[in-house]
Amino acid sequence: MAIYEIQHPLIKHKIGLMRKADLSTKSFRELAQEITALLTYEATKDFELEHTSIDGWCGRVVVQKIAGKKVTVVPILRAGIGMLDGVLDIIPGAKVSAVGIARNEETLEADTYLKKLVEDLDKRMAIIIDPMLATGGSMVATIDMLKASGCKEIRALTLVSAPEGIAKVSRAHPDVNIYTASIDQGLNEQGYIIPGLGDAGDRLFGTR
Ligand code: URA
Repeated sequence: MAIYEIQHPLIKHKIGLMRKADLSTKSFRELAQEITALLTYEATKDFELEHTSIDGWCGRVVVQKIAGKKVTVVPILRAGIGMLDGVLDIIPGAKVSAVGIARNEETLEADTYLKKLVEDLDKRMAIIIDPMLATGGSMVATIDMLKASGCKEIRALTLVSAPEGIAKVSRAHPDVNIYTASIDQGLNEQGYIIPGLGDAGDRLFGTR
């Protein structure tokens, strides 16, 4: 697995703004979307192109188009929804496969409560979106599920990642690349990323 901490100044600036404790829900949401669009740009840089001939205003013209790459975006509910428009701004034709994972408080395992995947998953690259890669449990469970459902190529976008989560994903799924705006210090005893963003779902949905 490769982890790419994207060094673009706009991303560094925007993630810094998101760390402000008294930021409004509106601004937090907008910044999450803007950073996700920039991460999407970075995560698709290696997509292959092919030539095609079209009718232009002055006759035939050869243009380039993405070579057969179909994408499904996979938001991990609930917080992943906050990144969805950012991906769709850049890849408007992408289909969405929603996944709901919750921690079972008895077994402490990741339980799936929603799995609404596109039918042709085996022909699409999946781009998983989840703002916070903390312990890595939900991410690993989502990748396990996508692979079991036939998906062959998977990438993930996160706003903030903890070294613990990166290590867990990289051990379980060395073939999955992660694009993140920031690798932070680590987890506290409650499983929050430090310095992190706090509870990203609450901040995105205004429920804190
Ligand atoms: N989920 C969050 O929303 N924030 C964290 O810091 C860790 C997990």
